[in-house]
Amino acid sequence: MAPPTAARMKARARRGQSAEALATKQREISISEFFSKNRHLLGFDNRRKALLTAVKEAVDNALDACEEAGVAPDVRIEIEAMRKDERYRIAVEDNGPGIVPAQVPKIFGQLLYGSRFHTLKQARGQQGIGISAAGMYGQLTTGKPMVIVSRTGPRRPALRYQVAIDTARNRPEVTGEKEVAWDRPHGTRVEIELEGRYHRGRQSVEEYLKQTSIANPHVDIRYRGPDGTEMHLERVTTELPEAPLEIKPHPHGVELGRLIKMLKETRARTLGSFLRTDFSRVGEKAAAAICAAAGLEPASRPGRIARTEADRLIEAIRTVKLMAPAPSGIVPIGEALLLRSLKSEIPEAAFYTACTRSPAVYRGNPFQIEVGLAYGGALAADDLARVLRFANRVPLLHQPGACLITRTLVATDWKHYGLAQARGALPTGPLVVLVHLASVWVPFTSESKEAIADYTEIQREIRLAVQECGRRLRLFVSRRRRAADAEKKRSYIEKYIPHIGQALQDILALSAADRDRTIRDLSAILEKSRKMD
Ligand SMILES: Nc1ncnc2c1ncn2[C@@H]1O[C@H](COP(=O)(O)OP(=O)(O)O)[C@@H](O)[C@H]1O
Ligand SMILES: [Mg+2]
Repeated sequence: MAPPTAARMKARARRGQSAEALATKQREISISEFFSKNRHLLGFDNRRKALLTAVKEAVDNALDACEEAGVAPDVRIEIEAMRKDERYRIAVEDNGPGIVPAQVPKIFGQLLYGSRFHTLKQARGQQGIGISAAGMYGQLTTGKPMVIVSRTGPRRPALRYQVAIDTARNRPEVTGEKEVAWDRPHGTRVEIELEGRYHRGRQSVEEYLKQTSIANPHVDIRYRGPDGTEMHLERVTTELPEAPLEIKPHPHGVELGRLIKMLKETRARTLGSFLRTDFSRVGEKAAAAICAAAGLEPASRPGRIARTEADRLIEAIRTVKLMAPAPSGIVPIGEALLLRSLKSEIPEAAFYTACTRSPAVYRGNPFQIEVGLAYGGALAADDLARVLRFANRVPLLHQPGACLITRTLVATDWKHYGLAQARGALPTGPLVVLVHLASVWVPFTSESKEAIADYTEIQREIRLAVQECGRRLRLFVSRRRRAADAEKKRSYIEKYIPHIGQALQDILALSAADRDRTIRDLSAILEKSRKMD
C-alpha cells in the first residue's frame, strides 16, 4: 500500500473535529444555491428539457397573467439559435397587464416569490419558483442575465431591465433599466439565453404549444422556431374562461400544524368566528357543533388554544358533517369546448366524446376531472393510444409512468370498450385520450410539475370519467362493427346478383330485358338497405 499523502494525513487529523469546529462550517443554504445544484428538481436536467421548461414557465405565466387581467391571451414565442444544439435565446411575449417596476426585480431575480402560493384558486403557477428558476438556469449556463420588457398601460412607458440572481443570497441584481419603444400597449416580454437543445416531435416546444392550444381554446399562439418553423395556433373561441375565485381552506383537509398556524394568525376574536370566517363551508351551526365535539367554548380566544386542544379540534372537525368545498375556485374547460378543441386539433379522427365530472375533493382541495376521446378515422390503428395529460390547462409532457393519469388509464379495462389491450399497458388502437385535472392546488410529485401524485379521490374521478366516455366509445365501435359486417354481406350478395339474374332467365325463360330489370331491382333493394344503415 502506498504511504498516505500529506493531504490525507491532514484529513485524518481533522476527523476528531469538535462541535465548535463543525459549527464554523454550518450555515444557511439559500434556496437559489440549493436549486442551482439540484436543477433537475425544477425540470432543467438536460438541454432538451431545459429549453422546453424555460419556454413553458414563461408561457404559463403569460397565460395566467392575461386571464387574471381578463384579456384574451395573444402570446408570441421565438427561439433563436445562438450556437446550434448548444445555446439558444428564447423570447416569450404577452399582452397581459404587465408588471409594476417595483416588482420586476423580485419576480425574476428571486426564487420563491409569487402571487399564487398563498391563494387557493386554480392557476398554472403555484410555487413562485417558475420563471426565476428559468432565468437562473440561463445565468448559470451562459452567464447572461434575463432581459425583461414590461408595460402596464398605453400611457406609461415600456421599460427594459436586465435581471440577474445573486444565488448566494437569493437576491435580484438589476442593471441597465431604460425606456424603450414597444408596439404593445401593455404586456410583458421575457428573454432568456440558455444552454439548450432544440428538437421537434415528442416532448418538443411545438408539441407543448399544440397541446396548450387544445386545453386553452381561448388562446392565440404565434411561434417561430430556430429552424424557421412558423406556427400559428388560432383561438377557437374569444370567450375567456370564467375567472376562478379565491377560496378558503375546507376544514376537512386541514392538518394540525396548519390549524395551529391559522389559530395564531387569525384576526377573529373567538374560536367560533375563526371557524366561520377562516374556513369555507362552516356556518353558525357547524361551528357550534365542532366546538361542542372538541369540548371547547366557542367564545374562547383563538390565540389561547393549546396544542392538545387544537388536536381535539381536528378530531371534532372530522366528525361534523360539512358541505363539500365550494367549486368556485376551479374552472374546467367544459365538454362543448373540449370537443371543439379536439376536433380542430385532431381533425383526422372519426369519433369524439368528452366528459366533465362534477367537482370533488382531495385533502380539502376541490378538483375536477375532464376526459376527452378522439377515435378512429386516420389515427394510427397499430400504436398504443396517445395520452394527453393536463393539469390546470398545462400539458404534462414528461414522466408519464410516474403520473396518476397514466396509471389509471393502464388500470382501465379497455377491452370492455372494444379495444385491444396488453396486460399492464395502454390500449392499442386509433385512440387519443385527454385527461385534465383542474384544482386549486395540483398535487405534483415534484417541483418540476411533471406528474400527478397518487390520491384515491382523484383516481376515482378519472376512472368514472373514463368509464362514461368508454361506454360511448363502445357504442360507436360496436355500431361500426355491425355496419362493417352488414357491408361485407352486401358486397357478397352484390357479386352474385348478375348470376342470379342469369339463373332466373334460364329457369323462367325470361327475356333479356326482364333479366336486366330483375338485376336492376335487386341492386336497388341492396342499395336501399345500405342507405338505411
Ligand atoms: N408575464 C407576466 N405578466 C404578469 N405577471 C407575471 C408574469 N410572469 C410572472 N408574473 C408574476 O410573477 C410571479 C412569479 O412567477 P413564477 O416565478 O413563475 O411563479 P408562479 O407562476 O408559480 O406564481 C407570478 O405569481 C406573477 O404574479
Ligand atoms: Mg409561473
